[in-house]
Amino acid sequence: MSELLLDLKNVTKQFKGGTVALDNISFSIDADNPSIIAVAGESGSGKTTLGLMALGFLTASSGTVLYRGKDIAKMNGRERTEFRKEVQAVFQDPFAVYNPFYKVDHIMEVPIANFKMASNKKEAREMMEQALISVGLRPEETLGRFPHQMSGGQRQRMALARALLLRPKLLIADEPVSMVDASLRATILEALDKLNKEFNITVLYITHDLTTAYHVSDYILILYKGSIMEAGDVESIIRDPQHPYTQLLIGSIPWPDLDRVWGEDIAVIDIEEDTSMESKVGCKFAGRCPHVMDKCKVSPPPLYWPDDNNRVASCYLFEDKEVLPGNDVGTLFQSKKVAVAR
Ligand SMILES: Nc1ncnc2c1ncn2[C@@H]1O[C@H](COP(=O)(O)OP(=O)(O)O)[C@@H](O)[C@H]1O
Ligand SMILES: [Mg+2]
Repeated sequence: MSELLLDLKNVTKQFKGGTVALDNISFSIDADNPSIIAVAGESGSGKTTLGLMALGFLTASSGTVLYRGKDIAKMNGRERTEFRKEVQAVFQDPFAVYNPFYKVDHIMEVPIANFKMASNKKEAREMMEQALISVGLRPEETLGRFPHQMSGGQRQRMALARALLLRPKLLIADEPVSMVDASLRATILEALDKLNKEFNITVLYITHDLTTAYHVSDYILILYKGSIMEAGDVESIIRDPQHPYTQLLIGSIPWPDLDRVWGEDIAVIDIEEDTSMESKVGCKFAGRCPHVMDKCKVSPPPLYWPDDNNRVASCYLFEDKEVLPGNDVGTLFQSKKVAVAR
């Protein structure tokens, strides 16, 4: 069996105050198949919580998060340093992250120094220039500047270049384009794609936008109120959703949108929120589901294979089908062969 980069085992996160942001999520990422995995769902579905758990910034209420087989809550100093280097993040707000008094050079020099990535200044400078070029920025127009002298799109690409310096294995990108001008989004998504294809970095692309998820990702995981509704091959799920919740989401995007160019104005997941009939014990979607059955309100459905081997859906409509063994949707993200050999 190949090595697992990240392995979430039955992870639940309940915040003080009672909100269950993630409810028994199992999801692994294979080290040998660098891919772009979208985590999609409307606001409040638990996407950011999932990203923060993967980064080790939040601890699980129950379950474990492993990186290369090590529980990230129990790593020793050396393991933690390696983890901090190999798992990088970019966040939504490209304005908030950087101290406005430091030039881009300084912002990029810090990780090089902290992780001893270069042996001298010249080497550090070359690394910075290479990283900037890789994300489509011109070093001569970027170094020497202050962050406020750059556009939101340039700043997000600089954040990607900074992450790239550390040669990460995994990049958590939480809504990286949602605060950036529509006209500049494509450049960021292209940079994400390049980081994946040229540098073999697995990208967890967290988004509430199904159109960009469709264009940039290989796989998708659809979250609703902290539970996985449907997961697997992005083409199968967006073109032919099986879970009633995914069908509702996709139904709210006009079809031609999927063929639009990246970065034009985006199709945002925006459907009516109604928690009044929300099921506390059964399927989270039962209160809004057009196909709801009595059992849906009693216990949450497992993940079934509704059709071929490309995706799973947590829905009793597929009760006569096989259940995903081990509950780990990551097995669908590793390779199609693994899924077929079930
Ligand atoms: N620090 C926190 N304390 C309490 N509740 C939180 C906290 N962070 C997130 N939540 C709640 O957890 C749920 C999931 O939030 P989040 O992961 O931010 O969702 P998303 O990124 O999909 O919008 C929401 O109901 C949110 O209000
Ligand atoms: Mg979020």
